[in-house]
Amino acid sequence: MCGIVGYLGEKNTKEILLDGLKELEYRGYDSAGIAVLENGNFSNFKAVGKLVNLEDKTKDYETKGFAAGIGHTRWATHGKPTELNAHPHLGESSYVVHNGIIENYAEIKKELIRKGVTFLSQTDTEVIVHQFEKNLKSELNALKAFSKTISELNGAYAILLVTKSEPDTIFFAKHGSPMLVGISCDDNEGSSERDNTMSCEKYFASSDTPLIGHCSDVNYFEDGDYGYVTSDEIVIFDKDGAKKDPIFSALSQNKLSAQKDGFRFFMEKEIYEQSDVISDTLMGRVGDEEIHFDELDKTLFNGINEIKLCACGTSYHAAMTASYLFERYSKIRTTLEIASEFRYRDPIMSKDTLFVVISQSGETADTLETLKMAKKAGLKTLVICNVDNSSMVRLADACILTRAGIEKGVASTKAFATQVTVFWMLSLYIAKLKNSLEDQKIARQVSLLREIPTHVKVTDEMHERIKRLSKRYLHGHGFFFIGRDVFYPLALEGALKLKEISYLHAEGYPSGEMKHGPIALADPELFTIALLPEHLHYEKSKSNVEELSARDSTICAISALEFDKADDFVQISTCQDYMLEFFEMMIVVQLLSLEISIRLGNDVDMPRNLAKSVTVE
Ligand code: M6R
Repeated sequence: MCGIVGYLGEKNTKEILLDGLKELEYRGYDSAGIAVLENGNFSNFKAVGKLVNLEDKTKDYETKGFAAGIGHTRWATHGKPTELNAHPHLGESSYVVHNGIIENYAEIKKELIRKGVTFLSQTDTEVIVHQFEKNLKSELNALKAFSKTISELNGAYAILLVTKSEPDTIFFAKHGSPMLVGISCDDNEGSSERDNTMSCEKYFASSDTPLIGHCSDVNYFEDGDYGYVTSDEIVIFDKDGAKKDPIFSALSQNKLSAQKDGFRFFMEKEIYEQSDVISDTLMGRVGDEEIHFDELDKTLFNGINEIKLCACGTSYHAAMTASYLFERYSKIRTTLEIASEFRYRDPIMSKDTLFVVISQSGETADTLETLKMAKKAGLKTLVICNVDNSSMVRLADACILTRAGIEKGVASTKAFATQVTVFWMLSLYIAKLKNSLEDQKIARQVSLLREIPTHVKVTDEMHERIKRLSKRYLHGHGFFFIGRDVFYPLALEGALKLKEISYLHAEGYPSGEMKHGPIALADPELFTIALLPEHLHYEKSKSNVEELSARDSTICAISALEFDKADDFVQISTCQDYMLEFFEMMIVVQLLSLEISIRLGNDVDMPRNLAKSVTVE
C-alpha cells in the first residue's frame, strides 16, 4: 500500500526521506520517488521496483542545507507501476505525493486538459498538482490556492505538496487516509504543549514508523485538516477553515508495535485492514454496470471451454469458492486441483483449458511447478497473485494482482479476502464476455461487489462478542466447520485458520456430508461452527445442523437469522446476497481463530512449524 514521508529542515533530507520510505516498505509497493526543493530548485528521482533502485538513482545526489522534501512508495491502482506513474507528480513548479483516491479526478482532468494542461501519468494524483497551479493563477497566495484545491477534491487522501511559490514550506491535507507530523526540537523535551512558533525541523509520514528515532512528539491529523509547515510554524485548519493548534502526543519508540498500528498482532491488523484493501482490489475494476480488467487481453478467453484452478492452502480455498462462481455466473466448466497432488499425477491437459494458479506470494513451489507444467503443455495461463514481479507473475501469460498489500501474519486473511473478491469480479467479467448472464443480473452483482468493504468492517461489538465467546472453545476433541456451496470452502478456510494458530484439531466439511460418517463423533465436546447463510440453501443447512444438535454436539451458529438450536450464536447483519454473507462470516471465523489462539497464549503471527512462503516441496 502507498506510503508518504516528508521532511523540512537542515539535515540530510535525501537520507531522511529514503530511510523513511524504507520504514514503510513492509506495506508493499511497486515504485518509489522523492522530490526535494533546495535553494529554489527541485531535484526529483523516481524508480520502479525496490527502493535499492531509487537509492541507486540518487547515489550522486546530496542535499547540503535547508530543504523541503517529500517522498512516496506507490502500490499501483490507477495505472501500471511505471516511473511516469510513480509519485511525486510534477506540475510546472510544484510536486505532490498522495495516498488514497481522488474519486472525481476524471472530471477535473477533463477540464484541465480542455484548458491546455498536459498530463504525464495515468494516475488520479496528478490532477492535484495541476489544479493547484491553476488555482495559484487566480488566488492571492499558495495557501489559498491549496485550500481551494482541497475543497474541490472528492475521495480519500493524505497529501503533501511543495511549490516554488512558497519554497520553505510543505503544504498538507488529510481526509480518510492517515498522516501525522512530528517535531524534533533540540531545546524542548517531552512537553505536550509545544510552542508552535519554535524553530525546528518537521517530519511527515503516513504512519508512525518513519518518525521513530527522529521525533519525540507527533500530531495526528484529523479528517478535514489541511495547512502548511515552515521551520517556524505548524499551521492547521480544520474542515471548516478554522485555525486549530496541533495536539502533540509522545511517540512510542517501538518500531514493531508501530508497524502493528496498535493492534496486538499483524494478523489482527490485517483482519481489520480488509475493508480498505478490498476497496483497492475493486478500484478501477468495478464499472457502472460491468467489470473491467485493463490488465487482461480478452483474447485470453478465446477457444476456452474449461478453467482449471490450481493452488495450495488458503489460496486453494479461494479457488474452490471461484469454482462455484464460475459455473454459476460464467457458465464455464471449472475444475479444481491441489497443486502438490496435480504435479505428480500425470494429468491430462487439453488446450481448450485456461490454467489459473492462485497464490498470495507467487513463490509457492508446488503451485509454481504446476504453472510450468501447464505452460509446457501449451495451455494458456493466468495467475491471481498478491506480489508483483514474483516468479508466477513473471511466468504466466496474464496476471491479476489482488492488491492486498504485504501480508505479515503467517495465517492468511486479507490475501484470501482479496482473492475471493477478484474471483467474484472475474466470474462476472467472463459472464459478460460469454454472454452467459443477462446484463441486468451482471449489473446487480456489480453493485453488490461495491458493498463488500462495508460488510467486512470489524465492529467493536462483533469483536467483543467473539472475544467473550472464545473462552468456551479452548478444549474439546475437535471442531467441525460446516457449510454448503461457497460456504464449504469458507468452512475449510475457517478450520485451516483455527488449526494453524490454535493447534486445535479442526476440519471443514460440507454440511450435507456430516451424516455420511463424521456425525458419529458428535457429543458435547465436539464443537460445530455452522455457517448458515440466509440467502443460500438456508433450510437444508439448518436441517444438517439440527441433526448435529440432536446428537448433542456443541453448536456455534453464524447467521443473520436467529437459530434456537444453537448453544452459541453470532449474528451477522442482514445482507442482500449470499456473497455478502460470505464476507461477513469470513470475518467471524477469522476473529474466532485469532481470539482462541490469543487465549491459548500462542504466537499468532508466527505459528509453530509454519512458514509464510513455502518455497520447498
Ligand atoms: O503464497 P500462497 O498463497 O501460494 O501460499 C499457499 C499456502 O501456503 C498458504 O495459503 C497457507 O496455507 C497459509 N498459511 C494459510 O493461512
